[in-house]
Amino acid sequence: MRSYYCGDVRSAQIGETVTLYGWVDRRRDHGFVIFLDLRDRTGTVQVVSDPDRTPKSHPVAEGVRNEYVIKVVGRVSKRPDESLNPKLATGEIEVYAEEIELLSAVRKQLPFQVSLSDTETVKEELRMKYRYLDLRRDRMSKNLQLRHSVVKAARRFLEDDENFIEVETPILTKSTPEGARDYILPSRVNPSEWYALPQSPQLFKQLLMVSGFDRYYQVARCFRDEDLRADRQPEFTQLDMEMSFLSQEEILDLNERLLCHIVKAVKGVDLPRPFPRLTYKEAMDRYGCDKPDTRYGMELVDLSDVLQNSGFKVFTDAVARGGIIKVLPVPGGNDAISNVRIKPGGDLFKEASEAGARGLAYIRVRENGEIDTIGAIKDNLTEDQKAEILKRTQAKAGDLLLFGAADAPTVNKTLDRLRQVIARELKLVDETKMNLLWVVEFPMFEWNADEKRFEALHHPFTRPYNEDAGDLTTARAQAYDIVLNGFEIGGGSLRIHEPELQAKVFETIGLSDEEANSKFGFLLEAFEYGAPPHGGLALGLDRLVMLLAGEESIRDTIAFPKTQQARCVLTSAPSGVDEKQLKELQVASTYRPKVKED
Ligand code: AMO
Repeated sequence: MRSYYCGDVRSAQIGETVTLYGWVDRRRDHGFVIFLDLRDRTGTVQVVSDPDRTPKSHPVAEGVRNEYVIKVVGRVSKRPDESLNPKLATGEIEVYAEEIELLSAVRKQLPFQVSLSDTETVKEELRMKYRYLDLRRDRMSKNLQLRHSVVKAARRFLEDDENFIEVETPILTKSTPEGARDYILPSRVNPSEWYALPQSPQLFKQLLMVSGFDRYYQVARCFRDEDLRADRQPEFTQLDMEMSFLSQEEILDLNERLLCHIVKAVKGVDLPRPFPRLTYKEAMDRYGCDKPDTRYGMELVDLSDVLQNSGFKVFTDAVARGGIIKVLPVPGGNDAISNVRIKPGGDLFKEASEAGARGLAYIRVRENGEIDTIGAIKDNLTEDQKAEILKRTQAKAGDLLLFGAADAPTVNKTLDRLRQVIARELKLVDETKMNLLWVVEFPMFEWNADEKRFEALHHPFTRPYNEDAGDLTTARAQAYDIVLNGFEIGGGSLRIHEPELQAKVFETIGLSDEEANSKFGFLLEAFEYGAPPHGGLALGLDRLVMLLAGEESIRDTIAFPKTQQARCVLTSAPSGVDEKQLKELQVASTYRPKVKED
């Protein structure tokens, strides 16, 4: 029987004979004496084999190599003073191995060193291919254990303190309205018909409210076929909740307490409450995005009214076309950012143009309120305008002002992107902070210019504010996102439970009765049989864990993630299937590989 995990042996065990199991993290041969760092998921402990003190184990210790699996029976001793290691939890002790049993050897060359310092760089593709080895490593093992602790804390809070019950919802189902592409599966027994994998449990959790399970939660796998990024995977996990008879205020309060409970449990940190709130409009005005990182300043300033008559054509045209002029103040930007980087060909210009901007006007603030610009902007500002720019931006000598002038979405996207890039470069981000905030009062709909119709910003079951229900096209939704350090870690809303209001929403997004019925008829019918007022929220578990772990990608918080190309390189999925399977499913591929032209 194992007496301790490797990482748990302490000075209190000195003199005890212990049995340990693990992998050889590193083997060091100091002449006669052999040191083995024995590792399991809790950490490492130093095992010593000495031909004089432990003659029985020594021949085995001579033969083991890194990553061999062994059993050690030995006595815990205090380390000599010169080899105490305060960086290691087990650094005060070592285990003199009376017996070492080899349980499993490494028979092939390891694709990479498992035990490496933090500075190592193994290509991610290789790590993914040998993910089971990658997961042996301290960083990845800690991330998965953190993920487990987060889920455990959430379960304890929701089940024990708040009376939630977990209900599983189907994976083989019908399309759910979260706005991404569906993954679909053909049905063999119903030829020509398809299941969709759920983008979220949204519709089922609402049905559960109709059934009376007034507090539901689920650790729910969701599937979305969308472009992948560091914080997006094709399959990911939500901590999904739905509640009946609660107001928006009560739902936000409960979720604040849930997040505080999780952070306290896994980090030991007490987060201040209530979390700050921004309306969607405030967030867009001040940060140009709906998930602002508030760990640093550099808030955007609107100067449309000041500069619309400046005589600088780019500015006047932008406003005349219904657009805006906004500025991103960069403290100390004069020294840090050269003209070359802002002008065509420069890296910041490139960032701006990738966000849709056609140029990047700028002003450098000098001593005594003097300002320095180039080109047409220089000759076209009055003294009053200059003074107003300095007053509104509160810019000081040495600051750089970057301008966006175009339609509002382009300006916001551009300056948001520059704000993030520059803050990181100038080290303005306080990495010790955990800034949680709610973004509330989202608009119900967004205008889709291509399709010339309104689209639901969240999903079509989101409830408008009662006082806005007269004109739904401009209504605010009772919807909320929770943002942590610039990442959307969750979102939800109160739902519509009245068929009449739901019909009005479908009408606004141009969904005919037939379409609405064929897509969501079952839900609409359920609402005819006594539906409670309800609402909910889903946390993106992978993103939450990523931020708590200090990682930059959710791939590092998922045991077996997909690559950027949505592949599992470990199992080689997706892959071809037998012709026979396709026949049974009555599915044929229209794919033809591109023929290379000479
Ligand atoms: P939403 O679509 O906002 O809401 O999703 C909730 C949270 O899930 C996370 N998330 C993702 N994480 C990783 N990879 C992805 N591809 C991905 N997509 C989303 C985000 C997001 O905030 N049914 C509603 C919730 C509700 O209204 O109750 C929903 O799914 O952190």
